[in-house]
Amino acid sequence: MDIKGIVERMTLEQKASFVSGHDMWTTEEFKELGVPAIFMCDGPHGLRKQEITPQDQTDIYNSIDAVCFPTACATAASFDKQLMYDMGVTLGKECQAVDVSTILGPAINIKRSPLCGRNFEYVSEDPYLTGEMSASYINGVQSQNVGTSLKHFAANSQETERMYADDIVDMRTLREIYLAGFEIAVKKSMPWTIMASYNRINGEYSSENNWLLNEVLRDEWGFDGVVMSDWGAVSDRIKGIASGLDLEMPGSQGVNDASIVEAVKSGALSQEDLDKAVTNILKWIEKFIEHRQTETFDRDIDHEKAVRAEEECIVLLKNENVLPLGDAEKIAIIGGFAESPRFQGGGSSHINAHNIVSAVSVKDNYSDNISFAEGFPYDADVKDEAKYAEALNKAEAADKIIVFAGLPDVFESEGYDRSHMRLPDCQNELIAKLIELGKPVIVVLHNGSPVEMPWADKVSGIVEAYLGGEGVGEAVMNVIYGKVNPSGKLAESFPIKLEDNPSFLNFPVARHKVNYAEGVFVGYRYYDTKKMDVLFPFGYGLSYTTFEYSNLKVDSEVVDITSETRVYVDVTNTGDVKGKEIVQLYISDKTNAVNRPVHELKGFEKVELEPGETKTVSFTLDKRSFAWFSEELNDWYAANGSYVIEIGKSSRDIVLTKEIKLTGSFQIPPVIDHDIQLGELLAYDKTRAFTEQQFAKASTQFSGEGGELDEMTKAMMEYMPIRTLRSFGGMTNEAIAQILDELKKLI
Ligand code: BGC
Repeated sequence: MDIKGIVERMTLEQKASFVSGHDMWTTEEFKELGVPAIFMCDGPHGLRKQEITPQDQTDIYNSIDAVCFPTACATAASFDKQLMYDMGVTLGKECQAVDVSTILGPAINIKRSPLCGRNFEYVSEDPYLTGEMSASYINGVQSQNVGTSLKHFAANSQETERMYADDIVDMRTLREIYLAGFEIAVKKSMPWTIMASYNRINGEYSSENNWLLNEVLRDEWGFDGVVMSDWGAVSDRIKGIASGLDLEMPGSQGVNDASIVEAVKSGALSQEDLDKAVTNILKWIEKFIEHRQTETFDRDIDHEKAVRAEEECIVLLKNENVLPLGDAEKIAIIGGFAESPRFQGGGSSHINAHNIVSAVSVKDNYSDNISFAEGFPYDADVKDEAKYAEALNKAEAADKIIVFAGLPDVFESEGYDRSHMRLPDCQNELIAKLIELGKPVIVVLHNGSPVEMPWADKVSGIVEAYLGGEGVGEAVMNVIYGKVNPSGKLAESFPIKLEDNPSFLNFPVARHKVNYAEGVFVGYRYYDTKKMDVLFPFGYGLSYTTFEYSNLKVDSEVVDITSETRVYVDVTNTGDVKGKEIVQLYISDKTNAVNRPVHELKGFEKVELEPGETKTVSFTLDKRSFAWFSEELNDWYAANGSYVIEIGKSSRDIVLTKEIKLTGSFQIPPVIDHDIQLGELLAYDKTRAFTEQQFAKASTQFSGEGGELDEMTKAMMEYMPIRTLRSFGGMTNEAIAQILDELKKLI
């Protein structure tokens, strides 16, 4: 495509209409200019491709037959970058096969509260895991010459008032928690497009936020693709174009086209800014149309991939020697989810699934000794005594009881948040009755976000299947019958109760403001720092085998901040069956330069081991592994000093540690004016000696006799601004001014 030529030949009116969608899913076409329309569709865990009839466009549940892969809450628990890449490749090929240029995902907003209705679509409470997993997915899709749309940029961690609320979040928290995942994904995989979220951030809608879209995303991170709006996220279109929003989706029935024309004519919008948006969209279209691939969408083959993927995601949370099941054991399967599994969430990511496999539909492949009773419905909180009685009867006759529980669709969905963290009462009540039978009870969960488990101590097994895609029934049966050794670990903490969550007091809104008062202390960053009990910690998951860690080594115990360092650890499968372990690396900052979470995830690897086998897992650390975001510097910063490298089986099970010294950084200089506190001058290397001298002089005043300052006075002086030496140290203004001059020279 001759993009420059096309931009030159386009009329102002054509440009104005080109920068918004032709309809819900296509871009504008200009045959006379050689510009074809391209089609995009929702994902991210399958294709929600709607046809172009007006009815199809608004009916979310009317889309082509497609394979529903495990949702992001599940795939995150795989901690498997290769799996994400491979799933991306499959989806990219499916897109090529059905003429989809761009899949609208991945969705990577941080799980701030378990209540967010869309958590099932999001990856984690941890930005590093989020960024790495989504970058792999994007690289997979885009390897097939199909685009992605990284969404929802940014801080869109709730559904309540999602199109209106203003997220009040400090810069450090934004950078470290809510932007870092996007930053990693953009830098590592350069998505073709990114989707600006509905909400406002510190007063500015994302779709017209120059700081977010131009300064951070494009100038700082080097993003060179298209920024499109979330559907209907545009408030001020003219401001949006100037702020870097290229494409309005779906469009505004021509209303904004007219405003754009008028704004350019009046000079309110520069031609240059409009041309930038037009050029970005043309480049995106070119990428797709010039690299078309011939692919077939074989739904049955891809279905198998969806089953295999879910097998990697299931997290075994509890196992008191009750799993795996033997085929001779008499098993009672109870619960509506065994017959109608919940495998995806409601809203725009809803796939018209090709082949839904329930545990009940495949049970005969595993054993002849399985009975089933519904017990409670999969789609509502309704108690039915007759169904309870039937379930209890079947359970009574069994050796072990497997309860397929979970959240009904209406409990969590796009568009609204949950109001509590409980399972339906009808499920908890039946589980309690089943426990009373005195037989082992194993609960299999189908949910997109943590739930309270009042029965956790009394059941013998818990299997977290999440919303595991259309093959979830088969994947779960493979895990509980031991055909697959579970290897998922939690990508989010499970608090004991909702009130424990750090955002509890501020979620979701107060007078249209979302107050991110917990700052960077999100998820395990909060629970672990507070040493609080949780139901299940971040990074936790069991296996049918056991692993031991040894030999933690670092290239060097003195690490220069400008270079990379490698860390090695040996992992051994000490059990009897093959298994996969997710090795996690956390960094704990001991420098006291700023208040930080007790540790942060900075590396993870999944490794497969035969019984008795040992493999060495390695990680690369760089400046960002140690850094926090300094608002003073407006940059990432890591102080010189001591850090501990922690290797863990979960964030709460750190098995090996090694302390290293970081060098080559600098100290953040204090701001020298008459308000500077003496303690800051003493803490800063370049002003310490000089300040000590001045202290000595001032001490004559404090100690009366010119003697030593006592500890208490010294400690109190730390927080005294230098100007107070006027009142307490008998210094003149001139003397203080002279000290300040000297100090400035030292900085
Ligand atoms: C959702 C997006 C989705 C878009 C198109 C919006 O409501 O927030 O995630 O891609 O609709 O369906």
